Amino acid sequence: MDDPEHIRLRRTLTGEFTVKQMERLRPLIQEQVDHFLDEMISQGQPADLVNAYAYPIPSMVICLLLGVPYEDHAFFQEHSATLVSASTDEEMHVAAMSLAGFLSELVARKEREPADDLISRQLQRVAAGEIDRGTVVGHGMGLLVAGHETTANMIALSTLALLENPDQLARLRDTDDPAVVANTVEELLRYLTIVHDGIFRAASEDVTIGGTLVKAGEAVLVNLPSGNRDASFSADPDTFDPDRNTRGHLAFGYGTHQCLGQPLARVELQIALPALLRRLPGLRLAVPLDEIAFRDTTVTYGPQRLPVAW
Ligand code: HEM
Repeated sequence: MDDPEHIRLRRTLTGEFTVKQMERLRPLIQEQVDHFLDEMISQGQPADLVNAYAYPIPSMVICLLLGVPYEDHAFFQEHSATLVSASTDEEMHVAAMSLAGFLSELVARKEREPADDLISRQLQRVAAGEIDRGTVVGHGMGLLVAGHETTANMIALSTLALLENPDQLARLRDTDDPAVVANTVEELLRYLTIVHDGIFRAASEDVTIGGTLVKAGEAVLVNLPSGNRDASFSADPDTFDPDRNTRGHLAFGYGTHQCLGQPLARVELQIALPALLRRLPGLRLAVPLDEIAFRDTTVTYGPQRLPVAW
């Protein structure tokens, strides 16, 4: 969707994801992180960090924000995964319809029993004539998919990157300086750029980029990882350097569609990564690195499974 309609609808959600709002969520996110750490540890080692930790945290948090019952997470996790992977048109259609049906029922429930959650607040805007009910269902679907696929892969892939950089891992684990945590997370976002596909644009006018003419109406597939590793953006771009200045990185996209949920993603990562390393100081891979398979047919990049011991 293009502006101005896009920005009008986006504005109905921006208040939900302000930095201030997300800072208020810290204790709740910390509680969930501790809960899933307890669960993973109680189930014994080796554990698959992807399923035991990386997915449950953002999944639970987005459920709490939206007012979606977490008990249904297996259902929407499966359909969200289909929507962001190389599925057939038929599979995509089934997944989208299933999620729309699920959200539509939930919206009907919230109409009857409003609560203190994002969907109920969106329904107040429906009552005020600002948006229609279908938009609320669409926003719910979008946030459910965007809210957990991305952060989950960032948690898993960041853990792997830190295990491969033990000095930086130790620094993140042992620091009590929030600025060090924040900058390490920003550098992980740049260095890993997990949204490595699926950013499409259509040129609105003729434009020449790097000597190539893109004509109005032609499609462009934007490669965020390449931008984030461009030597003109950062010196020594293939090195993981938590001290570098990451200002202007493209991990959350650029322009009017830049990630709406970035304040939430940052807080989740700033809590989940140090908590894992502090609770399990002996964390290590339970298999050799070359046995780890990666998700290379999905919009977001990350390990399919991450077997760890501690
Ligand atoms: C580390 C985690 C995340 C990464 C790397 C990420 C990355 C991105 C990127 C690259 C875009 C731009 C897409 C484009 O230009 O076509 C985007 C858009 C978006 N993201 Fe995220 N995201 C993350 C987490 C989240 C979370 C937690 C939420 C919500 C709860 C979220 C909600 C959205 C939404 C709604 C958009 C569309 C915004 C618009 O079109 O105006 N994202 N994200």
